[in-house]
Parts: sequence; C-alpha cells; structure tokens
Amino acid sequence: MKNLDYQQQGEKVILNTYARFPIAAVRGKGAKVWDADGKEYLDFLAGIAVCSLGHCPDELIAVLNEQAETLWHASNLYWLPKQIELAEKLTRLSGMSKAFFCNSGAEANEAAMKLARKYFYRQGQPDRYEIIVFKHSFHGRTLAAVTATGQPKYQVGFGPLPEGYLYADYNDLESVKKLIGPKTAAILLEPIQGEGGIYPGTPEFMAGVQQLCDENGLLLLLDEVQCGVGRSGKFFAFQHYDLHPDVVTMAKALAGGMPIGAMVVSQRASSGFMPGDHASTFGGNPLVSAVGCKNVEIISNPSFLEQVNARSRQLTEGLRLLKDARITEVRGQGLMIGVAFTEEVRPLVTHCMEQGLLVGNAGSQVLRLVPPLNITESDVNAALEKIQAALAAWK
Ligand SMILES: Cc1ncc(COP(=O)(O)O)c(C=O)c1O
Repeated sequence: MKNLDYQQQGEKVILNTYARFPIAAVRGKGAKVWDADGKEYLDFLAGIAVCSLGHCPDELIAVLNEQAETLWHASNLYWLPKQIELAEKLTRLSGMSKAFFCNSGAEANEAAMKLARKYFYRQGQPDRYEIIVFKHSFHGRTLAAVTATGQPKYQVGFGPLPEGYLYADYNDLESVKKLIGPKTAAILLEPIQGEGGIYPGTPEFMAGVQQLCDENGLLLLLDEVQCGVGRSGKFFAFQHYDLHPDVVTMAKALAGGMPIGAMVVSQRASSGFMPGDHASTFGGNPLVSAVGCKNVEIISNPSFLEQVNARSRQLTEGLRLLKDARITEVRGQGLMIGVAFTEEVRPLVTHCMEQGLLVGNAGSQVLRLVPPLNITESDVNAALEKIQAALAAWK
C-alpha cells in the first residue's frame, strides 16, 4: 500500500481529530523514518519529542524483548520490580521522594492537580483548591488538563470546565502575585513552554515563582512532559534553576516511545495521596517500566547530556546563520528549539518534508525542532541544509 491508500483508508475509519500530513510512516531506525512510498526522512520531530534515542534503538529493543518474555502486566495490586527500579532512578535524579506512574502527559498533570487539591484537603484546608496556570501553556487534553492549558482554542465547546484555574502571564511575576489569595493551592508551569512557542522561563521569573510558593505555602507543580528527560540538556529542565518543586510530571520521552506518564513528588506533597485516592490500570506496567529504566540510564549519563548540549549549540548557531527575512528569533534550550517566523509555518513544514526532513510547529508561527537526543553532528548539518533548501522553496 502507498501513502495515498493509507490516507484514503484512514479517512474512512479514524476520527478526524488531527490535521495529518499526507504520508504514512511505516518504518524507522535511528534518526531516519520511511514512508509507505519508500521516501526517507531525517526525523527532527522524533514523534514530538518522544523518540529521544531515535527509532527502534537496539538497547531498548533488547530490554523490551527480555521483558516481553518475562512479564507484561500484572496490575498495581502487586509490587512490580521494574516499576520500583524506575521510581528509584527518577527520585534519585530529581531529589524527590516518591513516584506515581500513568500512561500519558495529560494523565500525569491530572494526577499532579488532584494531588495538590487532596494535599490541602488532608491538611484541613479544603477551600484551597485554586491552581495558578499560564497563558500559552499546554498541559494535555483531559478536561482538567485542557482547563489548565492557557489557550482558549483548546477549550472552546467543552464547557463547563472545572473551576479553580487562574491564568497568569508567563515570565511576568507581577501577574502571578496578583492572583494569589486564600484559596490558592498551587502554581503549575512548564519550565520551557512547548506548544505555546518554545519559551524558556527566565531565571528571575522561575526564582520569583519559587519564592512566591515558599512565602505563601503553595505547591510548585512543574510540567516537564516535553522539556524533561534530557531534552533541555539537563535530565530535568528545572535543574537549570535553583528550584525545589513539589511535583514534576513527565511522559513523552520517558520510555522512548512506549506509552508512559509519571510524576515525582516531594516528601511533604506525598502525604496528599493515600491508598484508593488515585490509580491507573496500566501505569508503570512491567513492559514500559523495563524500557523506561534502560532509557533513563542512558539519557542520564553525563557524557550523553554533554553531547545533547554540543548538538544544541551546533543546531542553534546553524539556525541563526540562516538568511531569511521572515525569521524573527531562534530560541530554546538543549534540543528543544523554536525558530519564530513572521508568518504561519505549516507550508514550511511541508517544504521540509519535500526535502526529506520531518519537523513540527509550536503554535502557528514557530518551527519546532526536537530531534533525537543522540543525533549526530553530520545529521545536524544535513538538517540545516534541508531547512535552507526548504526556505528557498517557500515563497
Ligand atoms: C508540556 C506538555 N504537557 C502535557 C502534554 C500532554 O501530553 P500527552 O499528549 O501525553 O497527554 C504535552 C503534549 O504535547 C506537553 O507538551
């Protein structure tokens, strides 16, 4: 079957929720993906910041196969050795106390927001349920996560939305201060806003948010679903700052493409949940946890993260040398890079695909580059050449 056949077949049976490009992805290895017509692409989107070791990495295949022969699923009624091992790694790397596992980023944020409310409920302060969130944020598509998402386009038509969400301006501390009151439970933010256009939090802003949390007894919830697990050049993006969060959520890259979500929780916040308060059938099952353990072991290696930073410098510098009057800014951190344009970039994404390069957008006017974290120097050069060619073709 060819790309067009898959498109026609898919349109008949797949609910129309995505504006898909007209190719079918059928195979991947390393930083390469092939479509059903046999065309090869260099993948600088990596399944939207998921396949951080590239496609079908041998190290993960080995543990996946081994676990597939051992135990796939047993339920969270029992202790699961690989889940415990993954929790040990994530709590050690984050300096946090406990971990909870689920299946996606939205669910991880849902868990974080429920934990914040239950924490204050258990403290005898059930009226403290408000969560301060940010305009242009993105936290996922469940009803609570979409409410926390400060972009009305994702919320329209889904009302009534859960109450208790207040929207501040990112990187504007005064706007946060104004919203704090006796009902405030927590502040939820992405250390680097992703879907909103790749905006890193400024050091002053992040320090100020931490101070506001400390002064007012608020929980600090960080959404590292996209920017975590090595993407920013440190294992956790919050480690670029001097922060002591109460919850850090992650998903996407945590198991290299196996569906997983997680939150790690500080000692004090962990008292918010008791048995029965929250659960997930598949959360942290043996198969995803085994892959997650190997993936985290590889990505957390300091020499691996040094390479992420080296490739980040190479890619950022290369992008800044591109000559195109429509480019207004190149920004980001690690291998989470946005190129801002004066106009909508979807046609440019298509031109890149024609050149054999997969990229994405973050918001309508920002090109998003989130390649595998183990991308090579020569692949970065090849991507820069393809972007240059795509810019030339984009009239
Ligand atoms: C920062 C952030 N949070 C949450 C999510 C939602 O994750 P998921 O699609 O796995 O539910 C995303 C997805 O793009 C994200 O970028």
